[in-house]
Amino acid sequence: MKNYLTNMFWGPANHDEFANGIQQAINQVAPHGIFTGDNFFTFGRNLSFLDDEKFMTAFSKHVETDAEKAIIWRSNILCWAARQSMRIAGDLVECGCYKGVSARIVCDYVELEKSDKHYYLYDLFEHSPEMNHHAMPEHSANLYAQVKQRFADLEQVHVTQGSIPEVLHHIAPEKIALLHIDLNNAPAEIGALELLFDRVSTGGIIILDDYGWLAYRAQKEAEDPFFEERGYRVLELPTGQGLLIK
Ligand SMILES: C[S@@+](CC[C@H](N)C(=O)[O-])C[C@H]1O[C@@H](n2cnc3c(N)ncnc32)[C@H](O)[C@@H]1O
Repeated sequence: MKNYLTNMFWGPANHDEFANGIQQAINQVAPHGIFTGDNFFTFGRNLSFLDDEKFMTAFSKHVETDAEKAIIWRSNILCWAARQSMRIAGDLVECGCYKGVSARIVCDYVELEKSDKHYYLYDLFEHSPEMNHHAMPEHSANLYAQVKQRFADLEQVHVTQGSIPEVLHHIAPEKIALLHIDLNNAPAEIGALELLFDRVSTGGIIILDDYGWLAYRAQKEAEDPFFEERGYRVLELPTGQGLLIK
């Protein structure tokens, strides 16, 4: 049995004291199947993704920062969804791809080049104070080119720079098997859903990366009525993602 331990927690007032507390809790349980990070601590779990060699190879190859390493469980859920979506009509979409790390892990995991699927990635890639989204450490005038380079070997991946939802009028697939929305921006997420939800195939999967996070509660508050009106309800996962199978 393996453990996966990171010290990446968002919110504690004193990170050292918090880490000590987590360590004390770890000392009280059998040293197997422990996961810490991304704001959760659990133990006595199979952590099956750690035994999935293909996933671990793809994940280890592309993650760089501590924050990226900490979100391994979220990444595995996205990979699971992508793998399921290979059997569903339509393409893959990520609204808010940032550096393209999650999407690149997905591409390797599902061996996108062997499928007939396309993967559409969108982001602004830059940030300035008047823009209605929060800054990320690697936003820059070069990021768009860097992300295109990350996918240069995969002609089925289409990286587009632009503001969601407007950009979706210009380039977006007609049919969607997997819709991953990770914009940290409630109006943009609703704008994306208004344009893309009807294109998601029956059985298609929607992952809302921030749905369960209090800091992004505005997204849940906007999305719950959107889905209720259409007869759906999002499942809040322990990772903080929201999951919906259409
Ligand atoms: C948390 S990051 C995405 C991380 C990425 N999904 C990953 O897992 O590696 C959120 C991204 O959403 C983008 N974003 C926010 N609002 C946007 C909008 N209206 N149009 C396009 N991109 C937007 C930001 O530029 C930022 O890079």
